[in-house]
Amino acid sequence: MLNGKVIVLGVTGGIAAYKAAALCSKLTQRGADVHVIMTSSAKQFITELTLQSLTKNPVYSDTFDERDPSVVSHIHLADLADLVLVAPATANIIGKMANGLADDMLSTTLLATTAPVMVCPAMNVHMYTHPAVIANMETLASRGVSFIEPGEGLLACGYVGKGRMEEPEKIVEVVETFFEQRETEDAHSGSDKAAGILTGKKVVVTAGGTIERIDPVRYITNDSSGKMGFAIAKAAKEMGADVHLIAAHTDAASPEGIKIEHVESAQDMYEAVMREFEDSDLIVKAAAVADYRPAKAAPLKLKKQGETMTLELVKTTDILETLGQNKKSQFLIGFAAETNSVEQYATDKLRRKNCDLIVANDVTQSGAGFGTDTNSVHIYDSEGLVLHLPLLSKEDIARRLLVLAAERMAKGEA
Ligand code: CTP
Repeated sequence: MLNGKVIVLGVTGGIAAYKAAALCSKLTQRGADVHVIMTSSAKQFITELTLQSLTKNPVYSDTFDERDPSVVSHIHLADLADLVLVAPATANIIGKMANGLADDMLSTTLLATTAPVMVCPAMNVHMYTHPAVIANMETLASRGVSFIEPGEGLLACGYVGKGRMEEPEKIVEVVETFFEQRETEDAHSGSDKAAGILTGKKVVVTAGGTIERIDPVRYITNDSSGKMGFAIAKAAKEMGADVHLIAAHTDAASPEGIKIEHVESAQDMYEAVMREFEDSDLIVKAAAVADYRPAKAAPLKLKKQGETMTLELVKTTDILETLGQNKKSQFLIGFAAETNSVEQYATDKLRRKNCDLIVANDVTQSGAGFGTDTNSVHIYDSEGLVLHLPLLSKEDIARRLLVLAAERMAKGEA
């Protein structure tokens, strides 16, 4: 969830500083790249070595201890951060932040950053409710700083009340929700970014589940509703593309203004896709294609016979794999609907089928996968995870995916 996110963690001098170790560990385990800045008082409670060992990054505390001559550390960290988290935050750092003071590594970084700032106060209950501290927090909140409120309970100073820093598990949850919401907002604003981005491009989209005939009244199919493929076709058209939509069995309403080529079986879809492949720029294989079909489709309705019946199935042609083997400049996107080991199966498919991107979803997750109007996906390229899209409408997922593809196509990455 926090893969690739740079979190600058400011640790200040309160007894809750010991909790910074658990926080570093949990953020790092979730994939965040954590850079710790400690105040000199924080070092009275916990060592640099502890936090350095947990984050695998150097810990900063002295503004003048410049280890890399090519950068100014506090500016570099301020620029690098996707989020600056101050935990624990004493009344002193809150006061300095509110008043724009910059007399150590942490306060200068906080003043220099344009990244979002999140503060986890931890102090004695009387300090926390002191009008000066409240006024400082209000000032910061009005500037967009967010606060993770301390919990109530027995404080280290002996008082019972509010002031105990929120537990690391809870802080990590808030941080994850923050990044998830930001991605959702980005997805919505993606519509502006997307305008005209596929103009002049021929985009082939496949949707739905193929039907493999047993006889004229019976068939094998799957749960695909076609909604994801339709949403992609619609988004591609809105982005200016010339869209060719090839659809097998679907339950979804057809996207307006897009001509659909209806197909039934994997073989029909294979032939339709191959006719469009040569001059296409982008192919998105959202269809759920049967891997096997009956060896023979009976021309007449089969009559029941014995107590059991054996149906012989033979492999269908893997369309995506064929496209992957034959592609020249075309950009190829595959889908992988999985119920387990999502990353491993998806990245295996990407390599095996020579795709540029693969969109993977765990269909056991509620709100993601077949039939729903929403989806939650991980998008991989040959190097690994490129983008995680949390639960969003299939339209938003489609837009984000196509923006990503268009950007890569523009860089000639097919
Ligand atoms: N696909 C295809 N032709 C097939 C089977 C699959 O083009 N005969 C495409 C799908 O449209 C999808 C991707 O391959 O984009 C992955 O489909 P999936 O069925 O998950 O992959 P398989 O290789 O069949 O793997 P599995 O063993 O999980 O079924």
